[in-house]
Formats: sequence, C-alpha cells, structure tokens
Amino acid sequence: MIELILSSFWFILPAGIANMFPVILSKVDVIQKYNQPIDFNLKFKGKPIFGKGKTWFGFISGGLIGGLVGLVQSSIHITYVTLPNTTLGLGLLLGFGALTGDLIGSLIKRRLNIERGGKAPLLDQLDFLLGALLFGSLITFKWEYLIVLGISIPGIHILLNRTGYEMGLKEEPW
Ligand code: CTP
Ligand code: MG
Repeated sequence: MIELILSSFWFILPAGIANMFPVILSKVDVIQKYNQPIDFNLKFKGKPIFGKGKTWFGFISGGLIGGLVGLVQSSIHITYVTLPNTTLGLGLLLGFGALTGDLIGSLIKRRLNIERGGKAPLLDQLDFLLGALLFGSLITFKWEYLIVLGISIPGIHILLNRTGYEMGLKEEPW
C-alpha cells in the first residue's frame, strides 16, 4: 500500500511540477513583457476561449520542466522501494499533458461563464491530473494511480495553492 502511494506520487511528479511552474514564471517581469495568452485574447461567442491566465510561456515552459523532472528522476534510484521508471520522454508527456488538461479546464470554465481565476471545484484540481494520465498512457497507465491520485490530489492542490497565495505567488487561494 505504502509502495503504491509512493509510486503514484513519483509517477505524477513531473506533472505536478509542470502545473505549478507557470505560476512562478508569471512573477518574472521580463518574461511577462513578451508573454502572450494562448488564445491571443480571441473570443468565442463573446467569451474568452481560454482567458488571460493561459499563456504560451506558461504552457511551453511547464511542459519542458516536466521533461526535466522526468530526466532527473531517471537518474535517482532508491534502495528498498521500487519506484516506476520515469524518463525524459514520459516526463514530457506528463508535463505537456498536465498543461493541456489545465487548458481544457479553462476552456470549460469559460463556457460555464466562470471568469479567469474563478473557482471551479474539482475541475481546478483534477484537470491537470487527467490530462497528464491521458498523455502518459502512451507509455504507462495504471488504474491504481488514477484512484490514489484522484483521491489525494484535490487536498494537496488546495493546500499548495493556499501556500502560494500566502507567499504572494497566486492571486487566489484556490
Ligand atoms: N499560467 C500561465 N500559463 C498557463 C497556465 C498558467 O501563465 N498555461 C499562470 C497564469 O499567471 C495563471 C496562473 O499561472 O494566472 C495560475 O494558473 P491557473 O490557476 O490554472 O489559472 P487561473 O488564472 O486561475 O485561470 P483559470 O480560471 O483559467 O483557471
Ligand atoms: Mg486558478
């Protein structure tokens, strides 16, 4: 059981870091100067397609960081616990999958009339996880990971976002 929980978190780590990275990047002024919303502020039926919270630098850097995390993980071996193999390729899939899920989450929020930064319980916490697991399934997919992570990530996500908010990194505490 412990091994399953550790393995699930080890597997999803590239996605988790990929998903947090754009928040940090959004605080770097030089980057923001050149950054652009993915939808270039275009609208669909009067509402933003994704909204200003989804940017090119955020998407691309997050995805690449996922790959980097996977690469670092592949060189770490811990005795006594067998952790899943995470590689550069899997890290990239998990990273870009996470950011794609996050993007689709925003697409859905805008269709539901929830403005950028507005709350969407469960969607806000799980969109990146589902995207990552879907892309990652090109290499590995385990139902056990989906169940363990689906249950535990919402709580962790809320805790981390609250911390980010207290630290002044995030605009909203969710
Ligand atoms: N971010 C970004 N590019 C992305 C994803 C996130 O630049 N592809 C940055 C934005 O500064 C965003 C912040 O990370 O405001 C937090 O991300 P998130 O909570 O997903 O976006 P929201 O601003 O809450 O927008 P939405 O309502 O669309 O989820
Ligand atoms: Mg948000």
